[in-house]
Amino acid sequence: MARVVWFETVAIAQQRAKRRLPKSVYSALVAASEKGLTVSDNVEAFSELGFAPHVVGAIEKRDLSTTVMGQDVSLPVIISPTGVQAVDPDGEVAVARAAAARGTAMGLSSFASKPIEDVVAANPKVFFQVYWLGGREAIAERVERARQAGAVGLIVTTDWTFSHGRDWGSPKIPEQMNLRTILRMSPEAITRPAWLWKFGKTLRPPDLRVPNQAKRGEPGPPFFAAYGEWMATPPPSWDDIAWLRELWGGPFMLKGVMRVDDAKKAVDAGVSAISVSNHGGNNLDGTPATIRALPAVVEAVGDQIEVVLDGGIRRGSDVVKALALGARAVMIGRAYLWGLAAAGQPGVENVLDILRAGIDCALMGLGRASVHDLTPDDIVVPPGFARALGVRGAGDT
Ligand SMILES: Cc1cc2nc3c(=O)[nH]c(=O)nc-3n(C[C@H](O)[C@H](O)[C@H](O)COP(=O)(O)O)c2cc1C
Repeated sequence: MARVVWFETVAIAQQRAKRRLPKSVYSALVAASEKGLTVSDNVEAFSELGFAPHVVGAIEKRDLSTTVMGQDVSLPVIISPTGVQAVDPDGEVAVARAAAARGTAMGLSSFASKPIEDVVAANPKVFFQVYWLGGREAIAERVERARQAGAVGLIVTTDWTFSHGRDWGSPKIPEQMNLRTILRMSPEAITRPAWLWKFGKTLRPPDLRVPNQAKRGEPGPPFFAAYGEWMATPPPSWDDIAWLRELWGGPFMLKGVMRVDDAKKAVDAGVSAISVSNHGGNNLDGTPATIRALPAVVEAVGDQIEVVLDGGIRRGSDVVKALALGARAVMIGRAYLWGLAAAGQPGVENVLDILRAGIDCALMGLGRASVHDLTPDDIVVPPGFARALGVRGAGDT
């Protein structure tokens, strides 16, 4: 087994991922769109928030556990669904094992590289993520497969705008990973021998198929065929969301909510949770940071449904800031992808350990016994920080 070297921050995991992966593969993990305004704001906005620590009165043992969509989690951090885990041969199964080892739940992308049955076997706390692809009948079939496989919740992501183009260039993702593509990639891959070897050992090239878009046991369509079908599918209405919510019946999250008016419509559609999310800045560039939009959404619907946040979480202290502003928990994307790319399953565990330790330190400094005790009083919010979207006019604070 490869020697795993512990890293102490997510930034170091990112540096390792960059060193280890071929350039185009690393670039696919960095993602983001256009000028990168949103992805930067997601991260930088956390730096504008400060802490108001106590000097005496720290609690000896702090409780980080909570529940998200009915699942007990040992820390208020869950795995956000992401579609590029074929950067590691074990992909989503490695992530699922890491999340299980650290006592947390996982969102599994529609565009995952591993069948949901294998992922649930590694971690029973799986929420299956759905894109609006193929219309009601096709979606109903996929959701039924997820139910049969044992998924304990559904995450519906409807904020994707098919935005493409980045000022720093987009990676060329091959249609299929066959011998010809491997040879074409070889000049950049050859400079990353550890990554190449990890796949070489398995005798399996990275899989660019999406098995959860097909029936159980089928290999699934190639990524780009599924993407094309998605582009050709009319986007969902609020009636469609209410229909799917009814069909599923269990815990149901709408991911990508940024506005108060949408949050209220989500409540009307019967959802049990929302994620305040801008898809990690991969979408409509210029959308503000999720942490800025969170307080108004929590104020409007936080007493009716669970509100989680994703976007820009890189430290335990970011998690604590989000909880102080009313999030029940957060979901992480790039942070664990970098851990996965840097060191496989132990790398993801390492990232979760970093976040856990950071949350614990912040709770200690703030004199809080539990993540449930955090309040806005624990942090310093500069004037003009928040953005209450969809209240009167977009952006009113
Ligand atoms: C490379 C990449 C792939 C993603 N794929 C999906 C996906 O398939 N489904 C989805 O709902 N969100 C997807 N997301 C968005 C994440 O779930 C999450 O909203 C975002 O990464 C959070 O921001 P962070 O990366 O700053 O933590 C993806 C994000 C990245 C970076």
